[in-house]
Amino acid sequence: MASYGVVGNMFVQELARDGQDPPLPYIAKEDDRPTNVSSLASPIPVVDLELLFSSDGDSQTSEMDKLRSALHSWGLFQAIGHGIPSSLIDDVGKIAREFFHLPTEERKKYSKAVWTEGNGTDEIVLEGQAIDWNDQLYLLVLPEDERDLSCWPENPSSLREILNEYTKKIKVVIEVTLKAMAKLLDLEEDYFIKQIGDKATTFARFNYYPRCSRPDLVLGIKSHSDGSRITILLPDKLVDGLEVLKDGQWVNVHAIPYALIINAGDQMEIMSNGIFKSPVHRVVTNSEKERISLAMFLIADGEKEIEPADQLINEDKGQPRLYKKLKVKEYLEVFYQNFMQGKRSIDLAKV
Ligand code: OGA
Ligand code: NI
Repeated sequence: MASYGVVGNMFVQELARDGQDPPLPYIAKEDDRPTNVSSLASPIPVVDLELLFSSDGDSQTSEMDKLRSALHSWGLFQAIGHGIPSSLIDDVGKIAREFFHLPTEERKKYSKAVWTEGNGTDEIVLEGQAIDWNDQLYLLVLPEDERDLSCWPENPSSLREILNEYTKKIKVVIEVTLKAMAKLLDLEEDYFIKQIGDKATTFARFNYYPRCSRPDLVLGIKSHSDGSRITILLPDKLVDGLEVLKDGQWVNVHAIPYALIINAGDQMEIMSNGIFKSPVHRVVTNSEKERISLAMFLIADGEKEIEPADQLINEDKGQPRLYKKLKVKEYLEVFYQNFMQGKRSIDLAKV
């Protein structure tokens, strides 16, 4: 264990405030540092969720085709037609910004340990592992009766209500997406919904990336794929930063304002026997503008097993099983350790 002590307990925001260069523990290894990204013009596929269930057969088919290709080649897409009012999206951005702009002492009331609920930063687990340039507020939002409201900030005063409203909408987006994904694989429409179990949880992670005087040396979030079933990200409307690895190149995810970015997580890659990709992604910072995002992670019941759907395996047709069966909670245990080392857990699940 490294003992950088106080740095790990500090909000990145405090470090960023004076515009000083990032301290050593935040400096990424040379190979991990931000690089020039591919300049493909706005390549991230866009899918209209409403059209996926349209009664007009042609539009529905063509939208489903777009979704299939997006999940197969990118593992992520921009979702429009998601039914969340722009005003609610603006409110979410506003409360997040207000929360992260509170005096440090106020925010410390909600301090947390890593991977538990509350407010804090990345933490060094291993020698030589850089800390992400990001502060977070991490909360369980579903199921409702498992919420620990002591971790939910009361300041700004509308945070709880707005997060609750937004969560209700995201629940619908999750269901629609899971249904469409099942249909794409010729599975029963409720296949993925049943598979997550009654005790499935959804976590909200508000990310705050302060400006950084040396964006060339640090990462907002190091390269990773999500351990979730799926993730629904609300990116910053004005500031880019998310990058996805596509064919060995980092590509900037420039989102349409008010669109959501939906990606398959590792659990979905396993269950779809690799047909849907869990994309490797990271976040870069910049020296001019801070950035805020809200990621919602759908996590299946820990006691449930994850494995490729039987119907997707057919040795005779050249579709061998690519992943082993394992319990969700076993997967998540290794996920965290690997995440801190920038390693992918999904490799452990490969046959
Ligand atoms: C995450 C993540 C991306 C972003 O929280 O896992 O990848 O744009 N966030 O903040
Ligand atoms: Ni992520």
